[in-house]
Amino acid sequence: MPHLFEPFSLRGVTLRNRVGVSPMCQYSAGLDGLATDWHLAHIGARAAGGAALIIMEAAAVEARGRISPHDLGLWDDAHIAPLARVVQFAHSQGAAMGIQIAHAGRKAGTAPPWTGGRPLADAEGGWEAVGASPLAVDEGYRTPHALSVTEIQAVLGAFQAAARRAIQAGFDWLEIHGAHGYLIHSFLSPLSNQRIDEYGGTFANRARFTVETARAVRQVWPDHLPLAMRLSCTDWVEGGWSLDETVDLARLLKTEGVDLIDCSSGGTLQRVKVPVGAGYQVPFAEAVRRGAGMPTAAVGMITQAMQADEIIRNGRADLVLLGREMLRDPSWAIHAAQALGQREQVRVPEQYLRAY
Ligand code: FNR
Repeated sequence: MPHLFEPFSLRGVTLRNRVGVSPMCQYSAGLDGLATDWHLAHIGARAAGGAALIIMEAAAVEARGRISPHDLGLWDDAHIAPLARVVQFAHSQGAAMGIQIAHAGRKAGTAPPWTGGRPLADAEGGWEAVGASPLAVDEGYRTPHALSVTEIQAVLGAFQAAARRAIQAGFDWLEIHGAHGYLIHSFLSPLSNQRIDEYGGTFANRARFTVETARAVRQVWPDHLPLAMRLSCTDWVEGGWSLDETVDLARLLKTEGVDLIDCSSGGTLQRVKVPVGAGYQVPFAEAVRRGAGMPTAAVGMITQAMQADEIIRNGRADLVLLGREMLRDPSWAIHAAQALGQREQVRVPEQYLRAY
């Protein structure tokens, strides 16, 4: 079995180790969705810090698909150049660069978390939300406009166009955001999808939009580059989206050329009780890896070197992604390698060598 500091290859990309930075919104783009110096500094520090893969935050495939007004965008060609600058710097530090393409669906138009994260009214800069069905997330949220079949086709086109722009910006890795109650997940979960057409009802119908998105993206995303999908593996509530359905969906996605499932959870309902604790989502990565026979990434409350190493050594996932711990320590990968006696496996920037 491999360990945390062994390379991992998927299609034509070889990651220098198994440590990745989970996608994390920075709420720091311009109102036009353009990446800023913050993104360069934020991503740059983690690339220099030894992570093998950095997945940039949810980038909206259309303006109304932003979670909040200062989300990154990939809906316009103008987004390409500032992202390319970030990608080039990360590559210079030996990291592979991914980006998550996303549509917030019925959860669009909220304030950044540090100002409360609540839905914004039109007068506060909010906008219309769209979804599978006209069901609001919770009190205070907008009732989304249910997408028509023609409108669904347009959104698929937006995902495809965003993938093309990601190629032009130089990304090596693409992740489709199919989790956390956003548009794709809202079609998957029977709690947010009550459609009676071919996009609702049975598992195959609820999965249709997700499968079509993967297909549309894979059509344009180069064969030699990996395509991942982040899924919420459970809604954590009876009658919601389940782990069994996730495994079945992963099998379908595999046949569409999706290479890896990034296993997260939750997000459909705001008020469910989630048993958050160390590595609490790792069993999902393990179940999908075994059940669908495809690579997975584990994420969620992974903070310790030994913990991450154990996940890889015991074949529970192929990659570990760290979110908040990477905010606390951009050089987590270097420090983890030291802790595991693998210092020679990571590159410390020359500028920092005297500290090691
Ligand atoms: C996130 N998360 C997240 N997830 C995602 O799929 N797309 C995103 O853009 C974001 N944005 C985001 C911003 C911030 C500030 C945080 C803290 C989190 C979720 C994140 O990727 C990760 O799955 C969770 O944070 C759980 O992992 P950790 O933080 O316990 O390692």
